[in-house]
Parts: sequence; structure tokens; C-alpha cells
Amino acid sequence: MTPADADYQRAVDLLVAGELVAIPTETVYGLGADAANPAAVAKIFAAKGRPADHPLIVHLAGHDAVDEWAEDVPAVAWELMETFWPGPLTLILKKQAWVPSTVTGGQDTVGLRVPGHPVALELLRRFAAVRGKRAGIAAPSANRFGRISPTTAAHVAEELGSTIPMILDGGPCAVGIESTIIDCSRSEPVVLRPGHISPLHLEAVLGRLPAIETSDGAPRVSGSLAAHYAPTTPLRMIAGERLLDFINAQRHRGGTCAVISPNQPPQAGMPHAWRMLPADPVGYAHELYAALRDMDHAGVDLIVVEALPTGAEWTAVADRLRRAAAGAGQT
Ligand code: TXA
Ligand code: MG
Repeated sequence: MTPADADYQRAVDLLVAGELVAIPTETVYGLGADAANPAAVAKIFAAKGRPADHPLIVHLAGHDAVDEWAEDVPAVAWELMETFWPGPLTLILKKQAWVPSTVTGGQDTVGLRVPGHPVALELLRRFAAVRGKRAGIAAPSANRFGRISPTTAAHVAEELGSTIPMILDGGPCAVGIESTIIDCSRSEPVVLRPGHISPLHLEAVLGRLPAIETSDGAPRVSGSLAAHYAPTTPLRMIAGERLLDFINAQRHRGGTCAVISPNQPPQAGMPHAWRMLPADPVGYAHELYAALRDMDHAGVDLIVVEALPTGAEWTAVADRLRRAAAGAGQT
């Protein structure tokens, strides 16, 4: 899915004019605005219904713009950028004084990422051709606050369609869950949100496993609130060995459910929606949000998700599902 030249041009024009553009990235779709323009950034919060103290990630065209946005960048942060950018890793760094506090939620740090999606990179390069090193696109996931992140342009339209002027379609997102966030503004790097880039990948650069701090409740990382990534239908995680009994009990109570399982194929005679996801964590992450969204539309009383294996490689999807379960069914 490659946008036409005129689409890129229109997207740049909208950004320069302080308007919103939804953009594809390799993780999830983002709701983008000119990060150097506080009035434009304010429109993101309004469109999402997001609290103003939640900081946004600034997307850049390349490493050479980092010093314009961040100061005192430690050597380890440069090594992480060299290894993982363009890609699904966000670095929290001390911000330069000029960076608007609307972007940083009033904090003295800024989140930066060079995304690995060719359409996002092309747009960022064209924006940089107009704006130079201060060309940053602030973009949270393009969903309403607390809801499931969009991994296709159609999902964005479903979430925010009529409220935003343009959705740049770059096809389905390859990774499917949000970037790993690592805070490099402290004396030691700390992972604030697990993602496709795992602690083991980070260990290869850091020389040891990073600490992980996904503090529930504190608004430092909005994805770290306990309730997040949530469908409107209630969601329960059920151990694989109890899955069929649980579903049958639910049926006997007269309830309907939709099932997401990497291991158990659809059962004969089961009238309910059933989705098998890949049994590996990368494939599972790639399809998870679309599956949750479909199941949320299935018109059932409950979404039942088979509990995941406990291995470290499942950390990121387990984190998203835990938060989805915490927030599900609340509207
Ligand atoms: O993959 C992604 O990261 C996607 C795509 C669009 O890039 N973006 C995304 O944005 O997930 P959002 O806003 O849904 O999540 C960004 C997270 C938030 O939890 C926010 O709190 C955290 O990044 N964040 C941003 N700046 C921060 C800062 N200065 N300190 C701590 N956390 C920060
Ligand atoms: Mg989000």
C-alpha cells in the first residue's frame, strides 16, 4: 500500500497548517500533528479524549534530529538508536527547553522514535524538507483513549473517522502492538512498556537485562494504566485446560462468548465466534488487536481469551491482554 505523491503532499500541507493526519507505523497507526506546534498537539488530545498530562511520542525522520529535541543524550541511548532505529523502540530522553510541554505532559523528558514503516519515513522526510530538524510528528495510537489501538486504516476510520481530516493508508501494521519504551533519562535504562523489542534484544546492547517498571496507575506512561487497550465487551483470560468447561458453563447460563485461542481449534457445534491466533508471540501480536476488535463486534456477552504461556517472549502481549481485561466492558 503506497500513497500517491499527492497524498504525501496533502499530509505535509495539513501538518504545516496545524491539522491532524493519521499515519501508519510498523507498530500501530498514530494520530499525528506537528510536535512543535502546541495548538496542533492540543487537537490530538481533543480527538482522542486523552487527559492532557499524558505525554506523546515524537516521531523523527532520523537520528540527526535527536540533538534538536533532546539534551544530555547518554552513549547507551545512541547505541540503542544505532541498533534498533528505524524501528519499534521509543527512547525517553531529557528534553530541550524549547520542546512544548503539551507534547511532554509537563515533564522534563521527551519520547523519541524513528519509525520503521516506509510510508511514515517518507512523510517524515518530506515534512523535514519543509521544517528542518524541528520536523517531529507527535503521534499517540489513533484510537479513542483507553481503547484498542488500530492496526489498519479502516480501524482508524472506525475510531476517529469523521473527526480527523486525513488518514494516510500504509496497509496493515507489521508488528501490531505499540513500541517498546525505554527510559534513558535516568542513571540506568528502564523499560516502561514492553514491546516487540524484548528485554533479550536490549540485553545484547546494554550488556545486561534492563529493569522493567510498568507502574500501574501512574500517568507517566499512559499505556501503563491498568485499564487500557480495551474492548467494550467484558474480557476474561482462562487457562487452556479450563477453556472448554468454562465456555460450556457460560452457554448453560444462557450467555454467549467469543473465543481467542492459539491452541484450540473451533469446536464442533460451538455456535460462538472463535479465532485461532498464531502460537508464536510475534505472529500473535501481529493479529491480536484486529482479533479483539472483531470479537468486540461479534455481539457476544463475553470475550474469552486463552491464557498465554509464561515465557519472557510473551511479556508484551501478556501485558496488553492484562490491561484489556482490566478495562473491558466499561462503556
Ligand atoms: O508504537 C507506538 O509507540 C505508537 C506509534 C504510533 O508510534 N504510539 C503510541 O503512543 O503507542 P501512545 O501515546 O499510545 O503511547 C505512548 C506512550 C504513552 O504511554 C506515554 O505515556 C509514553 O509513551 N511517553 C511519551 N513520552 C513520555 C515521557 N516523556 N516520559 C514517559 N513516558 C512517555
Ligand atoms: Mg495508545
